[in-house]
Amino acid sequence: MQKTPSRNGCQGKVVSVQGPVVDVKFVAADEVPGVYSMMTVETIDRRPVYLEVAEHAPGNVARCIAINSTQNIQRNAAANYSGKSIEVGVGDSMYARIVNVLGQPIDQKGPIASKQSRPIRSAGTDAKIQDSTQTGKRYEVLETGIKIIDLLFPLVKGSKTGVLGGAGLGKSIITLEIIHNIVTKHQGTCVFVGIGERIREGNELFFELSKHGILDKTMIVFGQMDEPPGARYGVAMTGAALAESLQRENKDVLLFVDNIFRFIQAGAEISTLLGRVPSETGYQPTLISEASEFHERIRSGYGAGGSVTSVEAVYVPADDLTDPAVVAIFTFLDSIMVLSRERVAMGLYPAIDPLMSSSANLDPDIVGHRHYRISQEILKIFHKYEELRKLVMVIGIDELSPSDRLLYDRARKLQNFMTQPFSVAEAYTGKKGYYVTLEETLKGCESIFDGKCDKTPEEALYMTGPLS
Ligand SMILES: Nc1ncnc2c1ncn2[C@@H]1O[C@H](COP(=O)(O)OP(=O)(O)OP(=O)(O)O)[C@@H](O)[C@H]1O
Ligand SMILES: [Mg+2]
Repeated sequence: MQKTPSRNGCQGKVVSVQGPVVDVKFVAADEVPGVYSMMTVETIDRRPVYLEVAEHAPGNVARCIAINSTQNIQRNAAANYSGKSIEVGVGDSMYARIVNVLGQPIDQKGPIASKQSRPIRSAGTDAKIQDSTQTGKRYEVLETGIKIIDLLFPLVKGSKTGVLGGAGLGKSIITLEIIHNIVTKHQGTCVFVGIGERIREGNELFFELSKHGILDKTMIVFGQMDEPPGARYGVAMTGAALAESLQRENKDVLLFVDNIFRFIQAGAEISTLLGRVPSETGYQPTLISEASEFHERIRSGYGAGGSVTSVEAVYVPADDLTDPAVVAIFTFLDSIMVLSRERVAMGLYPAIDPLMSSSANLDPDIVGHRHYRISQEILKIFHKYEELRKLVMVIGIDELSPSDRLLYDRARKLQNFMTQPFSVAEAYTGKKGYYVTLEETLKGCESIFDGKCDKTPEEALYMTGPLS
């Protein structure tokens, strides 16, 4: 609890309201609440509006960002400061509930009685949760049952994975399938943070989790696209605070974020509203520090506290991977899966482009030598296939040498083998979803390498589960 006793109970007056920016004036300079403190104002219709102090302006003014709508706030209304920053309830009562940025329930299932709370802004990285390299790392790979992910982008406990892609390439579906496949088996708990995306997606997630009986292991927090930037920005912090509180209870946490780009975008909106000059790239000057504030908070350490494994969907504006916000996000990720529009056009779901993506977790010390060898082999084949594909467009397939032809055919079979019907996409594909174990994936790849499938038509490997 961040209390500043001397300023407790201070009251200021609203002097201006400009959209989500509210200026509150205090009588004396030492009454002005610190940055990130929370104030409340009542509107004419007695609705509370929550304000977070963003900066101090001359004339004892606290310039605030509203967390909810500022409609009907009047000038001269009293703004009360209770000595705290924004806090959310934590603990067991938050399971199976959907809350907003302030930790208030939005699922119409009644009030939440939390015994403890935690500020959503942290005062810096928790020294107790040390970097895992200092405490002796033990790698534990979490199987997702998705062939291409388990093979090329293994989900290591405590690591950060990003699913990058432009609009409509399947980021949310991949995230949902990972939740569907691993939360049931995962011993720890799960936090889902919905940032700035469609409201209906909250519903879908809720029913998906209820259907599989995993809702009571999950905490859900939403700040969707209809909410003011303060809420969309803060909700990432709320999610981090929930994950942090579970981590402190020595639990292993899976943190899902859809979509972290919207957090950066909300930060940019706030920055513009506050009149800060954008950087050359058009984004807020604090882009990197905002991305790092979030990612450094959810880092893991063994020895003290549990781990946080995060899977973050990253929207890529105009499919441009060099977008500064996207770059700022992926510097913090261990694995990046890049979705490609070309693959979507070919119906190759999940549309992860293995050559554009990368993973630091693909290391023989983590995944073992056999897995590593197979993964490198498959990447080599895909590289060669890309070259051959361009050649074939010019000279035709019949001009390839017999060895190139063989490699070309096997590569296409591997490419098809990497597609998979998802349980959460049954409505789109009309096919039953498959869970494929890592062993089945590795065996399937070996069979294709060894020529055991040379006589199988490539279509037989498209959108299937394990190799039968
Ligand atoms: N694995 C899949 N199998 C079949 N269809 C899929 C799959 N993934 C995505 N799709 C199709 O693509 C559409 C968009 O998927 P999704 O909502 O996951 O995209 P997104 O990347 O999250 O998009 P946005 O950026 O708009 O949030 C789905 O409605 C579905 O039709
Ligand atoms: Mg989406």
